[in-house]
Amino acid sequence: MRAHELILKKRNGHELTREEINYLIDGFVKGSIPDYQIAAWSMAVYFQGLSEEETIHLTESMVNSGDTIDLSPIPGCKVDKHSTGGVADTTTLILVPLVAAAGVPVVKMSGRGLGHTGGTIDKLEAIPGFNVELEIDSVVRLVKKTGAVIAGQTGNLVPADKKLYSLRDVTATVDIVSLIASSVMSKKIAAGADKILLDVKVGKGAFMKSQEQALELAKTMVKIGAGMNRETTALITNMDQPLGMAIGNALEVKEAILTLRGDLKGDLYDLSIELASEMLLMAKAVGDKAQAKALLIELIEKGRAIEKLVEIIENQGGNPGVVEDLSILPHASTITPVLASMDGYIWELDAEKLGRAAMVLGAGREYKEQSILLEVGVTLKKRIGDAVTKGECIADVHSMNSHNFDAALRIITDAVRIKAKKPREYPLVFGKIAN
Ligand code: URA
Ligand code: CA
Repeated sequence: MRAHELILKKRNGHELTREEINYLIDGFVKGSIPDYQIAAWSMAVYFQGLSEEETIHLTESMVNSGDTIDLSPIPGCKVDKHSTGGVADTTTLILVPLVAAAGVPVVKMSGRGLGHTGGTIDKLEAIPGFNVELEIDSVVRLVKKTGAVIAGQTGNLVPADKKLYSLRDVTATVDIVSLIASSVMSKKIAAGADKILLDVKVGKGAFMKSQEQALELAKTMVKIGAGMNRETTALITNMDQPLGMAIGNALEVKEAILTLRGDLKGDLYDLSIELASEMLLMAKAVGDKAQAKALLIELIEKGRAIEKLVEIIENQGGNPGVVEDLSILPHASTITPVLASMDGYIWELDAEKLGRAAMVLGAGREYKEQSILLEVGVTLKKRIGDAVTKGECIADVHSMNSHNFDAALRIITDAVRIKAKKPREYPLVFGKIAN
């Protein structure tokens, strides 16, 4: 086999076999096939596409490129959740204790944020002492003890994806559904859960800007799951405006704690209940959706969900007092309100721009090695459709010594649109795909 022939075959619109795909990925990771040939193949894939079988074979080759985690020592059905990336999306911090409180074990491997979207691992570091760097034996031990753990990636999972993604990033071959789907699913499959729940975001703050694209991505990922014997369900959810009211690491932890205490309701709460219900259904812990929702709401109201978060924080060396005393979280030195410029209704709260504003303040990173500020960000006071009067506070900007305040304010002003007319309501969840 030669890489040149396989590039030509794909360029001319033919399907590659499992062995051929494996030859390319294996050679790429080992260094026997150079970057420029894989770059050419990726571009051929961009124009010719991958069949369902090719996409599954690619995912399989990527999973086999590195370590995989064996969660079988943990009794019960393990369901993992993955979001394709959103703004003010703190569902992971809410779901993990909530689902564990319902008796279903959760092993959550999370990442750091990049660009306008945040990452759970960064957020957790806002809790003083919280350790996200766990070895796999600690992960297994803590899940057996408490039913839940949240950790950064352990082991050398899917090195093929790290290498391929970096190459796609600089060769204009990121936005291909089959390559995105195999990238995401390879990481989820290597992480070892029995079943996978996907939250595919769509809208201004999401990777997928249209419902058609999001649906195609969701279907492709669910088919990969089926092809690799991992039951997979996808919800397609709204990311036009930020999911919660807080954007920024410590601010989002605070919002998650308030939600788990039952003190805060809204889209973040609703979507967390929705996703957690799907996880309980997938784990067969409940008979139906209504039963799942009733149980989860009860766990929040009776304080069981927040107790589970306390246990997780204790297990991982953090200060559990944070759930009672939110002032333990780092907070910004300057809080400045953003005021409405006219009377009317909030027409737009562009999630990508608001995420970018928080990033500019220091909450996120533009490139991987950048350090971040845990305390800064933006808290919204309004949602799309809310009435506002001129001069009313729409959002607070939390900055450190006004660092990049002016730049952030310009982006926020651009992200918010007010009109005299009330916008039409649109759903939080657009649909569900299951295999
Ligand atoms: N996120 C991923 O993990 N992979 C992609 O290819 C694109 C987005
Ligand atoms: Ca309460």
